[in-house]
Amino acid sequence: MKMQQNLDYEFFSGFANGENPIELKEAADTFAEMMCWYECAIKEIRTKLEVLNAEFQAKKSRNPIETIKSRVKKPTSIFEKMERRGYDINLHTLMEKINDVAGVRVICPFIKDIYSVADMLASQDDITIIELKDYIKNPKPNGYRSLHMVVEVPIFLSTGKKPMKVEVQIRTIAMDFWASLEHQIHYKKFKEDKVEIVEQLAECATVIYETDLKMEQIHKELFSVKELRKDYSVREKEIEMQQKQHS
Ligand code: GTP
Ligand code: MG
Repeated sequence: MKMQQNLDYEFFSGFANGENPIELKEAADTFAEMMCWYECAIKEIRTKLEVLNAEFQAKKSRNPIETIKSRVKKPTSIFEKMERRGYDINLHTLMEKINDVAGVRVICPFIKDIYSVADMLASQDDITIIELKDYIKNPKPNGYRSLHMVVEVPIFLSTGKKPMKVEVQIRTIAMDFWASLEHQIHYKKFKEDKVEIVEQLAECATVIYETDLKMEQIHKELFSVKELRKDYSVREKEIEMQQKQHS
């Protein structure tokens, strides 16, 4: 707790350029206001995703999004990241350089849903794609898979429109299962040589990815049979109607 307070103090005092209590209070207020902007940007993205999910459900009777999670990065994590990257600790640099202060994670049933959601979001005219990393086509050596987008979305304040950056991570339920457990295992924190664990985790990621592909294939096959049946019964009804008219 003490550590958190110290880091936050350094963060604000860095921004305020000194330890004057008034400057410090102003810096803390500005920081709190900025975090509120990031919260608002998350709300904008969440609403867009919820609308797309509802429309998809209405049209195709299925949801391309299983869950949406979001968070604003903690001040200590922001500070650590800026320090690690050797940035000047001030709020201007924070807005400019740190892309994941606002984070949204979208969990989809199938791999194809990931790309549909990404395309639907990217094609909205108030969204600008700042960065796109496809860790599904190019997984990380440890097996990590996800589609990462940094987008810019406007929020509407009393003073006008403000573009805000949000990091959107899109992955399947299976990819999320792997990433969550890998994150919990935290093997990177141990000092000893952990090559074996790295290999085992990468192996699990491959098995999980193959399962994702199989499930998608099963879904595709069932779906196409359902569509064929629907087409067939519509055609049958049309023929029946035609026969009735001619008799
Ligand atoms: P950082 O944001 O500092 O990590 O650098 P970056 O922007 O180059 O990272 P990248 O876009 O590769 O990853 C951003 C986020 O994705 C991380 O903060 C994690 O939430 C997640 N991530 C990336 N790689 C891994 C991984 O190997 N395992 C897990 N569990 N999550 C990862
Ligand atoms: Mg990042």
